[in-house]
Amino acid sequence: MENLPQSRRTFLTTLTLLLASGSLLVRYLTPRSSGKRRVIVSAAAADVPPGGALLFRTERVALLRDDTGFYALSLVCTHLGCTVTVTEDALACPCHGSRFDRQGKVLKGPADRSLERFRVEVKGERIEVVG
Ligand code: FES
Repeated sequence: MENLPQSRRTFLTTLTLLLASGSLLVRYLTPRSSGKRRVIVSAAAADVPPGGALLFRTERVALLRDDTGFYALSLVCTHLGCTVTVTEDALACPCHGSRFDRQGKVLKGPADRSLERFRVEVKGERIEVVG
């Protein structure tokens, strides 16, 4: 094997390490989403009462219905991630007292961001919440 000068060997080693770490960094920063549509939950439209909500506690999603139709909110509090509860007029977090209106907007902190809203697709008599 050829005996490379020390500075050339150091350069090649450094270049290899930079390329490897750059590749790992790009892989880490790139979203893992495959772009595929993923149904988080689905329900019969008739199971969501007008003005009410259907809760999926395991998935921490609420499927709500108002005069304009169906919509879905995450039940994960935007403060520190506790599960919010749904009342007649608001969503409330039991951990530190944040409150959100039924559209998910903050009424009272410490949360300072709205609840995440999911896309809803109506498929005949079924409603799909899509992530
Ligand atoms: S986690 Fe909900 S208010 Fe803190």
